[in-house]
Amino acid sequence: MKNRNRLTCVELRAALLAFKRAQPWLPSGLKKWIFGLLLVPGLALAAPDTVFTVQAWKNQTLVRALTQDAACPGIRFDQHAERPMRLRVAPQSLAARPDQAKTDAGPVEFKERVCEARWPKGAKTARVAGQPVPAPHAHIHRIVLIGDTGCRMKAAEQAFQDCNDAVAWPLAQVAMSAAALKPDLVVHVGDLHYRESPCPEGNAGCAGAAWGYGDGAWREDFFIPASPLLRAAPWVFVRGNHESCWRAGQGWFRFMDPSPWSELRSCDDPANDADADFSEPYAVALSKHTQLIVFDSSKTAGKPYAETDLAFQKYADALALARQLMRKAPANFFVSHHPLLALSSGWRSGKAAAAGNQGLQSVFEASFPQRLFPQGVQLTLAGHIHAFEAINFVSDHPTSLVLGNSGSSTDTQLPLSYPEGLSLYPGVQVGDYVASADFGFATLDRRPAGAKDAWLLTEYNTQGRPVFHCRVGQGKSHCAKAEDGLE
Ligand SMILES: [Fe+2]
Repeated sequence: MKNRNRLTCVELRAALLAFKRAQPWLPSGLKKWIFGLLLVPGLALAAPDTVFTVQAWKNQTLVRALTQDAACPGIRFDQHAERPMRLRVAPQSLAARPDQAKTDAGPVEFKERVCEARWPKGAKTARVAGQPVPAPHAHIHRIVLIGDTGCRMKAAEQAFQDCNDAVAWPLAQVAMSAAALKPDLVVHVGDLHYRESPCPEGNAGCAGAAWGYGDGAWREDFFIPASPLLRAAPWVFVRGNHESCWRAGQGWFRFMDPSPWSELRSCDDPANDADADFSEPYAVALSKHTQLIVFDSSKTAGKPYAETDLAFQKYADALALARQLMRKAPANFFVSHHPLLALSSGWRSGKAAAAGNQGLQSVFEASFPQRLFPQGVQLTLAGHIHAFEAINFVSDHPTSLVLGNSGSSTDTQLPLSYPEGLSLYPGVQVGDYVASADFGFATLDRRPAGAKDAWLLTEYNTQGRPVFHCRVGQGKSHCAKAEDGLE
């Protein structure tokens, strides 16, 4: 990685020069000797390529570090002695999965050693090789929401985004603008990896871009551009269809998934996909009253499932577990990559259309025929559709947010007002609606309201200028253009 060790080396050089200048009275031989003593441990302070914090199961927090060094770096919590991070998974060279050949991929190289440490209860700060690590917050006041961030390179669709152009693929700008807002938590609603085919010869827009399912593409598509935001706060990663086993699932389990890494759930062997393509849901507390329920929908189909289908059973079991988790808080935000109630611009037909995922709808409807979600769900967060949408319902359905506009080529523009006669799902009646297919990201700011929480949603453009404001709470939302102000 280009910036590897840069900070450590710059800091070290500055410290050594300061020492040389500050001690003019020392004999030059002695000065050289002391200088050498300082230099040796200094060089041993090699910084890892990436350090980030993951909010995981049962409100555990994990620190992860990626390094190409021979061993994991040390971590220091508060004033305790530094100890080595645990190895999560070692570097590996893997043959391409047989089904990955469909998407051009060759052998998969993972050069990074993935290291991990659990954040001890009560610890306030952590440093990895001297670098500060984002600390978890007991009470979350500001959440950054992003989704569908990678640079699309896919030969099967003849789709090649200009990955070399920071405007055409704006993830780096989004990460910088979002980090400047100093969030307490970042939620990525899935689809991090998009570089599945090599850039065609003669295409200057993506010339030289890394591609494939190994960590070279993961670095360019996510870790490097997202780095300011990775340094700003802990993250919740939601798995998208791009991270299912036959696509970038191997990287997902090495880097992002919050559970312990295991060979059986690594996506390395397609024989294990029936397990590894599904995950148990988990909760992340935002306050005493509100929690996120994180749901892996990565493998869902675009058609309704028969009840005998294995995927139906898997998602029904996951929904039952999610319902148990929801009993721990009166207000739940349900986060999955695929939305159940949303619309798309209809890029094939040119006409706005219902775009809720039919596979999930068939499973959720079987348990919750009218509402699709349990009563405790007040808000749903999703991506997959490359646009921003905030939809309030007159019928008894939780407000639906779509946040898939943070980097990958966006949908064509959505209608400014809700299309008359368009039904998102039987029995669903849309009220307040705003949408935009411009690139951007959003924040949720918590406003404690007595025994309950109320939230202010703000949708920003890539430069961090507010575009929409929405009042969100008790399952409902009301939005307005930022320039008009909220009533
Ligand atoms: Fe997706």
